[in-house]
Amino acid sequence: MLTIHKAHRLEGRITVPGDKSISHRAVMLSSISKGTSSIKGFLRGEDCLSTIACFRGLGISIEDKGDEIIVHGKGLYGLKEPEDVLDAGNSGTTIRLLSGILAGQEFITIVTGDKSLRSRPMARIAVPLRQMGASIEGRDYGNLAPIVIRGGNLKAIDYDSPVSSAQVKSAILLAGLYSEGSTIVREEITSRDHTEKMLKALGADINTEDGVVSIKKSELVAQDIEVPGDISSAAFFMAAAAAMPGSHLVLEKVGLNPTRTGIIDVLKEMGAEITIDNLFISGGEEIGDIIVKGTKLRGINITRDIIPRLIDEIPVIAVIAAVAEGKTIITGAEELKVKESNRITTMVTEMKKLGIQVKELPDGMEIEGLNQITGGTTESYGDHRIAMAMAICGLFANGPVKINNSDCIAVSFPDFQEKLKAVIK
Ligand code: S3P
Repeated sequence: MLTIHKAHRLEGRITVPGDKSISHRAVMLSSISKGTSSIKGFLRGEDCLSTIACFRGLGISIEDKGDEIIVHGKGLYGLKEPEDVLDAGNSGTTIRLLSGILAGQEFITIVTGDKSLRSRPMARIAVPLRQMGASIEGRDYGNLAPIVIRGGNLKAIDYDSPVSSAQVKSAILLAGLYSEGSTIVREEITSRDHTEKMLKALGADINTEDGVVSIKKSELVAQDIEVPGDISSAAFFMAAAAAMPGSHLVLEKVGLNPTRTGIIDVLKEMGAEITIDNLFISGGEEIGDIIVKGTKLRGINITRDIIPRLIDEIPVIAVIAAVAEGKTIITGAEELKVKESNRITTMVTEMKKLGIQVKELPDGMEIEGLNQITGGTTESYGDHRIAMAMAICGLFANGPVKINNSDCIAVSFPDFQEKLKAVIK
């Protein structure tokens, strides 16, 4: 159990662990590239370790050298039928992106995950991958893991995605690498584009025009990859420091891909003082230092259009909205219901336990401002971002905040507690 006490300010310079989305993609795409790749800055969180385990199960040799991961890629058709069920653990990105690659393989694979992952919807990838020609079965007609995939003989589709989800888009694009014709994915609101950027860097025939992505069958050539810091992990520190007057925090070498920086836009709209320094580009991804100075924030409305650019940051945004001046209303965020937990219900339930005035909406929540947060005992529901959001509540609370089942933080941020301790003044 983790216990967090009130902080007066946050101060210092820290790095955050590698980007989770990019770490997954680095291992997956290196495995199906020709040649050997070195991945630096890889996130050794449980989710990304699940991806490594799955690709080892598919016959790829992956070495962990401490400061780098070495992947001996075997090209598009180098994977072999696994001897056992593959376990994606808690990771939606692992099971959904992997399914796209498996749709291109003529052998059979069974993929499962933990209790949370086994309750999350897979129809969103099964439907388009079946249209491309793959066979996908599972509980609830293929909607729930364990899922069984036999692929091969794919044909391109033109897919208008009903959800703005990078996991869905990526699964289709990865299957597109194995398909005859031009595979096209359209989204109403653009989701994160790390897959497109990395595929391009590895030589795929992929293009984006007016938010429409198209890909043709192409070979990938191994490249060394540097993973930037994860803005979704940095967000817990950024948001807390922004809302705590007197704070001064520098978060070094964080990924600043515009499809992920909604958190910076929202914090600025709430009145935060945030600047970016030392900006550079690597592997097509913007990277820079984020400098945050603490001040009093105000509540705002957060609506559908920006949600995909900050989907994983909503739990921590809800927390600082509780100490900002005025009401914050978050809508158009029903995707939160199918994350590692139902993040609308879990956040509202746990915030209420700490005396915060918050109301659940069908597609978001309404948070009153200037709450006096009290101490108390909260639950993580096995969801890493709920556990960390509750820890941030503790920094603002009048008494200690305890978080039960906080081990799940290791899914995305293994040294969260040490990093937090280092900046609390
Ligand atoms: C991710 C995409 C998002 C995000 C998840 C990681 C990815 O999910 O919530 O943490 O790496 O592609 P959706 O694509 O389902 O929105």
